[in-house]
Amino acid sequence: MISRRSFLRDISLAIAAAQIGPSHLAWPAVTAPSIPGKDRMLVRSLRFLDLEMPTEFATTWITPVQHFFVRNHMFEPATLDASAWRLTVGGEVDKPLTLTFSDLTRFEQHSVTNTLECAGNGRGFHNPKVPGAQWGRGAVGNARFSGARLADILKRAGVKATGKHVMFRGLDEVPGKVPPFIRSIPLEKATHADTLLATHMNAAPLPKHHGFPARALVPGWIGAASCKWLTEIKVLDKEFEGNFMNPGYRMPNHPIAPGAAVNPDDTHPVTALNVKSMIATPADGSVLQNGLVHIHGAAWAGEADVTKVEVSTDSGSTWHPVVLGKEQARYAWRLWSYAWKPPQNGDYVLMSRATDTQGRVQPDTAAWNPGGYLYNAIDRVSIHVKA
Ligand code: MTE
Repeated sequence: MISRRSFLRDISLAIAAAQIGPSHLAWPAVTAPSIPGKDRMLVRSLRFLDLEMPTEFATTWITPVQHFFVRNHMFEPATLDASAWRLTVGGEVDKPLTLTFSDLTRFEQHSVTNTLECAGNGRGFHNPKVPGAQWGRGAVGNARFSGARLADILKRAGVKATGKHVMFRGLDEVPGKVPPFIRSIPLEKATHADTLLATHMNAAPLPKHHGFPARALVPGWIGAASCKWLTEIKVLDKEFEGNFMNPGYRMPNHPIAPGAAVNPDDTHPVTALNVKSMIATPADGSVLQNGLVHIHGAAWAGEADVTKVEVSTDSGSTWHPVVLGKEQARYAWRLWSYAWKPPQNGDYVLMSRATDTQGRVQPDTAAWNPGGYLYNAIDRVSIHVKA
């Protein structure tokens, strides 16, 4: 069991050690070196823990848990005990179920390597600014998730013909009048063979911050679809109606001018991720000695596959294909690299642009929307090369 009080105490000690005043904890992010289980993350929020991965860690195909971003809409559950944990499955089913943790482990186990990205990753770059966590580029990571298939659990419960959507509820502690984090996904995605009730991440039990003892894993979709600390699954005859389905996590049906108002009736839920790439190293603001520069990064495309990543070292005038990494899997990011010899010393803007199997190409400017979702503009990093 892990208690929230001890976790918050550890965090407070970390902040005191780093001599960081609480007023500085939202934006710009600060590094909190000793958050238990996490290493050198950027803190976007401590009240509800939001931790961003520094981009330099996007250089391994599997993101170690200590560098994996955390996004919480409310307090993490104060205590979590796998032996006392129960998962109910109800709603439009023939046979409602109550499953224990060991029941879950007796279903056939399946693994999916998935790039989990927060729908709001990059929100801080939208212009004009939009409310919400002002993520930079690191609310994303790639991990191997394992557990039972949601389809097998729903099959045991027997979904009625009236069942169309599957709702998830977590054990988060809901503060005051805040609406609970409850969302639903369509039955078709819920019963896809790769949609999991994950109990493991990178071959170890799910850590507390990532949903121990079990979370939904909805591959290729925005992170918000993958409910942590799962305690209830309910089959519904329609999409769940609640704050985190509407107005939350919705995109305008048509392109809109930056800053323009949107009619809520003219929106749809955000589901699959966009095509996107990021430059991991060199880091933005680096000063490098002139010589061969190895540019490394990652690219992903949700339910599609990345077909090409290109790099520009002259602010977008010319583009060059990168070398894509060997490790690949559906829903997982692809590492890439490009070796470049700067023609002379000076300032450069390095840019990366991904293309996917759906023909989508990262745009120069991301589509502005009031929620700041799915930011995927061509990535840019400024560096200085000196003698
Ligand atoms: N599940 C619960 N119960 N509560 C939450 O706040 N946040 C969601 C999702 N699942 C959330 C949740 C969001 S917005 C994201 S991006 C992912 O969890 C982040 O997963 P991670 O913290 O494991 O990286």
